[in-house]
Amino acid sequence: MQRKSLAVILAAGDATRMKSSMSKVLHPVGNLPIITHVTAAAKSAGIDRVALVVGRDAEKVAEAGAKAGVEVTPVLQSERKGTGHAVLMAREVIAEGYDDVIVLYGDAPLIDPKSLSDAIEARKEGADMVVLGFTAVDPTGYGRMIVENGELTAIVEEKEATDEQKKIDFCNGGIITMDGGDAISLLDAIGNDNAKGEYYLTDVVSICRARGGKVIALEAPEADMMGCNTRAELAALEAEWQDRRRREIMLSGVTLCDPATVYFSHDTEIGRDVLIEPSVWFGPGVSVGEGAVIHAFSHIEGATIGEGAQVGPFARLRPGADLGEGSKVGNFCEVKKADIGPGAKVNHLTYIGDATIGAKANIGAGTITCNYDGVNKHRTVIGEGAFIGSNSSLVAPVEIGDGAYIGSGSVITKTVEADALALTRTPQENRPGKASILRARAEAVKAARKQQK
Ligand code: UD1
Ligand code: MG
Repeated sequence: MQRKSLAVILAAGDATRMKSSMSKVLHPVGNLPIITHVTAAAKSAGIDRVALVVGRDAEKVAEAGAKAGVEVTPVLQSERKGTGHAVLMAREVIAEGYDDVIVLYGDAPLIDPKSLSDAIEARKEGADMVVLGFTAVDPTGYGRMIVENGELTAIVEEKEATDEQKKIDFCNGGIITMDGGDAISLLDAIGNDNAKGEYYLTDVVSICRARGGKVIALEAPEADMMGCNTRAELAALEAEWQDRRRREIMLSGVTLCDPATVYFSHDTEIGRDVLIEPSVWFGPGVSVGEGAVIHAFSHIEGATIGEGAQVGPFARLRPGADLGEGSKVGNFCEVKKADIGPGAKVNHLTYIGDATIGAKANIGAGTITCNYDGVNKHRTVIGEGAFIGSNSSLVAPVEIGDGAYIGSGSVITKTVEADALALTRTPQENRPGKASILRARAEAVKAARKQQK
């Protein structure tokens, strides 16, 4: 039978050290709120019910948590009285009846779902309580895990630890899995007679032991337990997350010339044999088809890039840019809400917005789709195989037919039918010998000025 597990995620901290106008768990890592990473990990471990202990931004935090596809019940902790007190805010949800209650911290987004399922597995195998620990490079500030004969006997907080206990580097990572039926009674037994006068969740370990329960510790990598208290820690989390993602992406068959300079989002999808040059940023909602090349210094978000397409260097693809197979968007081009047909080329210094460009069309350097009249946006439609001469302005709404040809420097305001040539510039006029006459006149002015001095 499927086990019923509840995650109680603590996210009520004031996060004063973040010096932010919003809850720290709403800050993004890989362009996804920290709290969504945590609920997504729970979901991947088979937990789809979450009691979220919130303080500030309750609604937004609950909404972000639910984005991972889990059922979230926000419970408010209006006074911070410690982690044990925080978990008890979820009393009613816990009372619904679960096999396991797993307490997680909402500000640690790198947790591996495997560690959560391992904890649930250990419960199935007979442990009454399972605590996830890690070996800290610097254990200062963490609760120390006291392990005797393979069982966890207590967690001692830094402030209560003896000098001897402070030497222990096996620390509490904050993820505690307990029996759902015992949880409320264990939590109710926590007192606040300690150095901080807080209700320490960690006391459940010795309480469970005193009642004859078996408590074990599992170890996870320290990096998985990283939390977020300051902007510096947020940056460290981002760096770790990016490193992991880069590695995964490379192992899936993508070449990154200089991995440390390429930034992905949580949902970036990159096909096989894609080549990504240095300094490329992927915002949310990007997918790149097989064999595409993303040249250096490109900034891409909300875009779909077809197989074998080429982007950049220095390209900006904004939301709604959809590049067909084998198409090209070259240097200093910006594309927004536009379909670029298969094999079409937008190679230099161009803005394409609110447009459809047919297959194999060629958009000359400096072309601008004038999509905005100051109030409304309008569309430009360019047919297959059309040729737009350099430095043309296409004033939308406007349509250019298949195979049409726009002379360079034109300002197009009316429909151009298929295979027509459209020109809007004044005809060229050549005056033989006139240049040397002008030059001689200028030289004479210069000589006269010199004499006057
Ligand atoms: C806690 C653990 C410690 C562990 C460390 C790991 C306790 C008593 N100690 O210490 O053993 O090594 O985490 O990082 O649990 N929170 C609330 N409401 C509260 C208090 C806290 O929601 O009343 C939330 C915080 O927002 C935070 C989490 O619980 O996300 C942990 O609280 P924090 O104050 O950071 O605990 P630590 O002292 O770091
Ligand atoms: Mg902490």
